[in-house]
Amino acid sequence: MTTVEKAKKYAMPNFGERDFVVESGKGCYIFDEKGRKYLDFGAGIAVASLGHANARWLKALAGQAAKISHCSNLYLTKPNADLCQALVQRIGPGKVMMCNSGTEANEALIKAARLRGLSVSGKEGAKSRIITAINGFHGRTLGAVAATAQYKIQHGFEPLLQGFSYGEFNNLESFAKLMGDDVAAILVEPVQGESGVTPATKEFLKGLRALADKYNAMLLFDEVQCGFARSGKFLACQKYGVKPDGVSMAKGLGGSFPIGAVWLAKPYQDVFTPGTHGTTFGGNPLACAVALATIAEVDSKKLEANASSMGALLSRGLRALVKKYPDKLECERGLGLMRAAIFKPEYKNTEVCAKLRENGLILIPSGANGLRFLPPLNIKAADVNKALKIFESTLEKL
Ligand SMILES: Cc1ncc(COP(=O)(O)O)c(C=O)c1O
Repeated sequence: MTTVEKAKKYAMPNFGERDFVVESGKGCYIFDEKGRKYLDFGAGIAVASLGHANARWLKALAGQAAKISHCSNLYLTKPNADLCQALVQRIGPGKVMMCNSGTEANEALIKAARLRGLSVSGKEGAKSRIITAINGFHGRTLGAVAATAQYKIQHGFEPLLQGFSYGEFNNLESFAKLMGDDVAAILVEPVQGESGVTPATKEFLKGLRALADKYNAMLLFDEVQCGFARSGKFLACQKYGVKPDGVSMAKGLGGSFPIGAVWLAKPYQDVFTPGTHGTTFGGNPLACAVALATIAEVDSKKLEANASSMGALLSRGLRALVKKYPDKLECERGLGLMRAAIFKPEYKNTEVCAKLRENGLILIPSGANGLRFLPPLNIKAADVNKALKIFESTLEKL
């Protein structure tokens, strides 16, 4: 049986029909079972920050695995404490807890906001409502599903977790109308990733900060996709100069290893008292050692700056293509190395994505008609230009 046949028979069909089997990766390339090479501008959906099989990352993985991989959160480990410190140093005064994924990091933010709402109001549920943005994406566990204001994500899972209201992204007035003293938190992505890569406006995020302050609510940013140096700063909100009260991270943090993290600012850092939250796997020494190596590589190779300059190069190239092919492309948008080309409605992004793959370029569909460019943070100009070339030659033939 081939891998495709086996998966069809034994793997659940929730990811849809899949026929592309990845065998290995090196740098910004992945290889299929026949040894064919593809330029990977998906990076596992913004996960492989350093590309594939990075030397420092591999050394940290093997070194820590040989020492100890897991020992439970009943005990301390140096990699875990070091990673908490590294994140606080990069985000701001506060404390950190690790988990395994983006959705779990958001669950922790939701729980933190509700615990803090209880301590402020003194009454269970009195300050528990969370406002999120329409077309946002926060994950697939049930709290995160309730936070994700998209019918296709929520459909089938009623009754949803109560206490969520949804405002229009980049429309401050719409959020202002939803505010009240019962609001525990506002939770948004500084750049919406799954619905077509839409960056927030500065006025919007600043306005949310002011609204949260006015109603004594927390401002929480989901930086699962846009965080970890991809924007050109460690967090995308730092690019905007807006300070949150809590942040969720995952994806790029482990540079391909599953890990998530939640940071809470100083006034909220001790909201999780013993027994209120936990995880078996989250923040085990293996995951933390690998994340620390990923951070060390981001620092030593100046990958925040690289994300800015390569993002600008990519953006310029895509804007030129939007001008050249106005009948096919609507626009390009994004922040740093999180960008999308938006197609005219008559082009199906999944079909274009499949053609691009045939031509050796991996991109990721986003929203109804977008294709996302999320290359590794250490991508070089020659590879950005190569991706633009493949993109254009595919575009020409559509
Ligand atoms: C902004 C955002 N939040 C949360 C998630 C969920 O992360 P995970 O798939 O690791 O649970 C994603 C995943 O795409 C995301 O883009």
